[in-house]
Amino acid sequence: MNNIKDQKNLNKKKVLLRLDLNVPLKNGLITDETRINKIIPIIDFLIKEQSKIIIVSHVGRPKGKVISDLSLEPICENVEKKINKKIRLVKKDIFKLKKEDLFEDPSDQIVFLENIRFYKEEEKNEANFAQHLAKLADLYVNDAFSCSHRAHASVSKITEFLPSFAGLQLETEISALKKVTSEIKKPITCIIGGSKISTKIGIIKNLISKFDNIVIVGGMANNVIEYKGNQIGKSIKEENCDAMIKEIFETLKKYSCKITFPEDVLIGKNLNDEPQIKELNNIKDDDLILDIGPKTLNKIKSIIDNSETVLWNGPAGYFENPNFANGSYEIAKTIVKKNKNNSVFSVVGGGDTIALINKINAIENFNFVSTAGGAFLEYLEGKELPGIKALN
Ligand code: 3PG
Repeated sequence: MNNIKDQKNLNKKKVLLRLDLNVPLKNGLITDETRINKIIPIIDFLIKEQSKIIIVSHVGRPKGKVISDLSLEPICENVEKKINKKIRLVKKDIFKLKKEDLFEDPSDQIVFLENIRFYKEEEKNEANFAQHLAKLADLYVNDAFSCSHRAHASVSKITEFLPSFAGLQLETEISALKKVTSEIKKPITCIIGGSKISTKIGIIKNLISKFDNIVIVGGMANNVIEYKGNQIGKSIKEENCDAMIKEIFETLKKYSCKITFPEDVLIGKNLNDEPQIKELNNIKDDDLILDIGPKTLNKIKSIIDNSETVLWNGPAGYFENPNFANGSYEIAKTIVKKNKNNSVFSVVGGGDTIALINKINAIENFNFVSTAGGAFLEYLEGKELPGIKALN
C-alpha cells in the first residue's frame, strides 16, 4: 500500500480524496465533529503540496436518491471554517461534470462533490461511475478507513482507474489496530451495540473464537431477545436473522467465549418518553426497548472489571435522549475508571460511540479511538477490507 505522504510532485495534481464525513446531523447541525477533525491533516498536507483537492464523501444512507437533508453542505461549511479556505460544493451531476469544470477559478484549491450516495451506482461499485469520477482527477487517495469495509465505487472500483494511495488517517488507524490485535491481552471483552444491526450481526460468529466475552447491546440485542422467545414490541430489529443467531449460539458451544445480552431493559412508548424498567417477559406490543436495564448493566460492569482488554463499538441504547443514555454512559465510565488505574487496554470505535464519549468528555481516557464502526469490527474479524484490498 503506497502512502500519499511519500509521493513527490503533487504540485497542481488533481487529487480525488475519499473521506468519511458521515457525521451525526440533527436539523442540519453537526452534533459530533470528530471525524472531521481527524481528516484536517490530510487536507493541510495536500494544500501544502499545492494539489487541487476534490473531496468525495457520503453522509447517511440516501440509497441513490437526492435527499436535501443529507446534503454535504453543512459539513463543507464546517471544513471551510476549520481550514480557513474557501471550498466550493459542486452539485452538478457527476456524469455531466468535466475535469475543466472543477477549478474554473484558478484560485480555487478545494471542491466538494455532493453526497456520493445520491448516486445509486456508488453502492453498486459500478465501473462506469467509477470511471467518470476518475476522469476528474490525476490520482486517488483513500483517507476513509471507516468506510473501507464497503465495496463501493468511490472506495474500491475507482482504484482500477487512477494511481491510488492511502491517506494519513487511514494509515494511522490501520497501524494502531494492527498493534492492538497483535499485542492483545486476555481476557478480552468486545461490546457491540448501536443501530446498524445488518452490518454487525454477521460478524459476531467470527469473533467468538478470538474473544473471551462478547456483550451484545443496542439494536442487535433485540434480535437476540426475540430469538430467545421474548416479545420486543415496536423495537428496532433486523428481519430474517434467526438462522444467523442460531449459528452464533451453536458456535459458542465450541469455544470458551461467553455471550451476554440484556436480561432487563428500559422501555419507552416513543423516543422522547420517560424510561421504565422492564423484565423481558413483560414487554408489551407498544413498547420500544431503548436501553439496557440495571441488572444487565451490573453484569456488564463486572465483565469489564474482569477484563484486560475492552473493545467497544456501538452505544447500548438510544443515547440521543438522555433518559436512555445511562447504559452507554455507565459502560464508558466503567472503562474510563479502569483505564485511569492502567488496569485495562481500551479501544473504542464508531461515529455514534465517539459522539457519546465526547458528551462526557472522556475521549482522552481510551487507549485508542477509531473513527470506524463496521470497518473496525470487520478488521477485528480478520477480514481484508475491500477498500484496503483495492489499495494493495
Ligand atoms: C460508518 O459510519 O460506519 C461509515 O460511514 C459507513 O456507513 P454505512 O454503514 O452507512 O455504510
